[in-house]
Amino acid sequence: MSTTDVAIVGAGVIGTAVAWRAAQRGLTVTLFDPDPTRGAWRTAAGMLAPITELHYAESALLRLNLASLARYPSFVEELGLPTGYRANGTLEVAWDAADLAALRDLHAFGTSLGLSSRLVDGAELRAIEPGLAPGLPGGLVADSDHQVDPRLLHAALTTAARAAGVRFVAEEVRDLGALAAGQVVLAAGAWSGVLGGLPVRPVKGQTLRLRALSPLASGRVVRASVKGSTVYIVPRENGDVVVGASSEEAGFDVTPRAGAVYELLRDAQTVLPELGEAELVEVSTGLRPGTADNAPLLGRGEDGVILATGHYRNGVLLTPVTADAIATLLATGETDPVIAPFTPSRTAVPA
Ligand code: GLY
Repeated sequence: MSTTDVAIVGAGVIGTAVAWRAAQRGLTVTLFDPDPTRGAWRTAAGMLAPITELHYAESALLRLNLASLARYPSFVEELGLPTGYRANGTLEVAWDAADLAALRDLHAFGTSLGLSSRLVDGAELRAIEPGLAPGLPGGLVADSDHQVDPRLLHAALTTAARAAGVRFVAEEVRDLGALAAGQVVLAAGAWSGVLGGLPVRPVKGQTLRLRALSPLASGRVVRASVKGSTVYIVPRENGDVVVGASSEEAGFDVTPRAGAVYELLRDAQTVLPELGEAELVEVSTGLRPGTADNAPLLGRGEDGVILATGHYRNGVLLTPVTADAIATLLATGETDPVIAPFTPSRTAVPA
C-alpha cells in the first residue's frame, strides 16, 4: 500500500527542489536522506556559468543549462528567502595569448547563441577588477554567467518544501523497490549509481572558503586557466570568496588532500595576489555525480523509478529546470521537451 504519492531519495538541492515543486502540485511527498550535508551542494561554489564552463561538444547540455539559468530569477523570487543569487556576471581571465585566442572563440560561440559577452584588454580587465595581477593580457566579460550561494539555496528550499507539506525522513534508503510510494524519484547525487544500479560515479571536488581583506570590487566571479589548471573565485556579498575546484577520481573518498588545497591557493593567488593574505576559513570536499557524457539522467528509468541525478558539474545551475520538469512528470506523466534528450535510456546525448 502506498503511504505517500511520491518518495524522493536524496535531500540535496535537486531532491529538495523536486519535492517542493511536486508538493506545490498537490502531491504528498516524502523525502528520505540520513544526512543532506553529504550532498555536493555543500561544497559547490554556486557558479551559474553556462558560457564559461562550456565544452563545445555539449550543445544539448548547453540548451538545458540556458533554460535553467533563465528560470533562476523567478525561482529565487518565488522562494522568497535569501539565496545569494547575484547577476553580476563572470570575468574569464586569459593567462596567455593562447588563452586569449580561446576566449575569442568562446565569445564568438556565445554571441552566435545570443549570449552577451565582450572581450577586454589587460587595462580594461584591471579597471573592472583592480585586484587582478598586473600583466594579464585580457579576458572575457560574460554577462550571462551568474552565481548563487548553494548553502543558502539549500536552506531556502528546505524551508519552502516543509512549508509546502513535504515530510522529511532522516533514514537511509537501501532498496528503492521497498518504498511504499506511488512513484519513486532517485535524486541521490553521487550515491545514485550504487542505489539505482546506474552509470553514475563520484567525482571528488574540493573548494576553499577564504575571508578576503578587500572583496572583489566588481562582485563578478573570476575564472582563469593558470598554465592549463582551471581555478574560479566566487565572491559572496559578505566579502568571503569560494575558490574551486579540484576534480579527482577517488571513489567515495572525501578526505581533503593537501596537494589540492595547495594547487587551488597557488592558482587563486597568482590571479588575485591579495588572496595570499586572506584567512583560510574552510576546506570542503564533495562528490559530483558524474556520468559518461557529463549530462544528467532525467526521466523514467526502465524499472519505473524516475531519475533526477547525474548533474555532474551543473547541479546547482540545473536545479530549477530539473525541479519543474520532474514535478511535471510526476503530476501529469508528461515529459517536458527540455529534458527529453536526457532520457535515462539514451546511449549518448545528441549534440
Ligand atoms: N561547476 C563547478 C565545478 O563542478 O567545479
